[in-house]
Amino acid sequence: MNASNNEEFPIGGIKPHGGELINRVLSDEEREEATARAQTLTGLQLKSLVNLSDLELLATGAFSPLTGFMVKQDYDRVVEEMHLYSGLIWSIPVTLAVTEDEAASISKGQEITLWQDDTPLAIMTVAEKFQRNIAREAKGVYHTEEEAHPGVARLYRHGNTLLGGDIWLLNWPKPREFPEFRHTPAQTRRMFARRGWRRIVGFQTRNPIHRAHEYIQKTALEITDGLFLHPLVGETKADDIPADVRMRSYEAILRDYYPADRVLLGVFPAAMRYAGPREAVFHAMARKNYGCTHFIVGRDHAGVGDYYGTYDAQHIFDEFDPEEIGITPLFFDYTFYCRKCGAVVSAKTCPHDKEDWIYLSGTQVRQMLERGEMLPEEFTRPEVSKILMDGIRAKRTQQEAD
Ligand code: ADX
Repeated sequence: MNASNNEEFPIGGIKPHGGELINRVLSDEEREEATARAQTLTGLQLKSLVNLSDLELLATGAFSPLTGFMVKQDYDRVVEEMHLYSGLIWSIPVTLAVTEDEAASISKGQEITLWQDDTPLAIMTVAEKFQRNIAREAKGVYHTEEEAHPGVARLYRHGNTLLGGDIWLLNWPKPREFPEFRHTPAQTRRMFARRGWRRIVGFQTRNPIHRAHEYIQKTALEITDGLFLHPLVGETKADDIPADVRMRSYEAILRDYYPADRVLLGVFPAAMRYAGPREAVFHAMARKNYGCTHFIVGRDHAGVGDYYGTYDAQHIFDEFDPEEIGITPLFFDYTFYCRKCGAVVSAKTCPHDKEDWIYLSGTQVRQMLERGEMLPEEFTRPEVSKILMDGIRAKRTQQEAD
């Protein structure tokens, strides 16, 4: 059936969050005119990776309905109530922090140019300058004020003076890695429609695809038309596996173990926040904008350390009306290989004891790879182990040379 002829799922698919897919990327004459004007405005250098990636995500509509960095009334309500001022769900602040000196040179109502070195990235209309309470944001969003939490540490690094206002993009922030996989929401929506996919499941990850991931993806694919494998490639913790190594491992596993006509690989340029439950909702909203109808949330989604309960990122969805969420979350229990079952199973489907389960933590994986040991085949496909090991060795050689 042609998706365009189906009234329930017309081309364009599921409605973006807020109803309209935002596009703040200028082109042609508008871009030329704005580029000339950008040279004359007060400038602000964007240095932080999270700001650079947020700018791209705002411009492409991945963060629809947001059209810029948050103003105070949106920011406050997001921190306190997980909603924008308009009443739409939004769980993570998207903010632009500046130093006191930078703030002093910019006034409310002014147009400024956001620069990356000597490239004008965007024009921003500064609607507001305001102060945030970092402890309140840390507690509300990350459920902890500890600076050991990487998301909280970033808040303290960035400081409490924020600029809010709409942006228009002139040039893409650099480096624009993996260009062939950097599809915008408008592009993925067209790609899904062209493939005739009506039910699309999105998968967020900051890790290589282990057998547990493969199991939950393929289980979800049984009840949908297509899998959108959408690894996050923005800023992550230093001890997470680098995105270029992960990308090689995704391509290898897709080539050898997945049906090509049922999977689309794209990159999600966002930075990790490690905000667990709140980030799961944020990830789901963004994937709705990319055109996904379903979204996988497994164990400790976007978690770090012991800050969140294993299934908190699933329970948070109970706090919202499903209509309000729009995209359907698919929840998965803790998944692993069980020796007695002789298969990858989950805590929901396996009757055996933990002693029969093969599962490695991120730290164990890193330690094994650093020692040059292949990961057990029950845990990770050998093709993936090999790529990870080569990647880790290359990184070590590079570090030794530096
Ligand atoms: S995340 O930070 O991007 O969430 P990760 O790449 O580890 O981290 O996980 C991607 C998705 O797979 C998340 O929804 C996570 O909950 C889920 N997941 C990861 N490992 C397992 C597992 N062993 N069992 C069930 N779900 C898992």
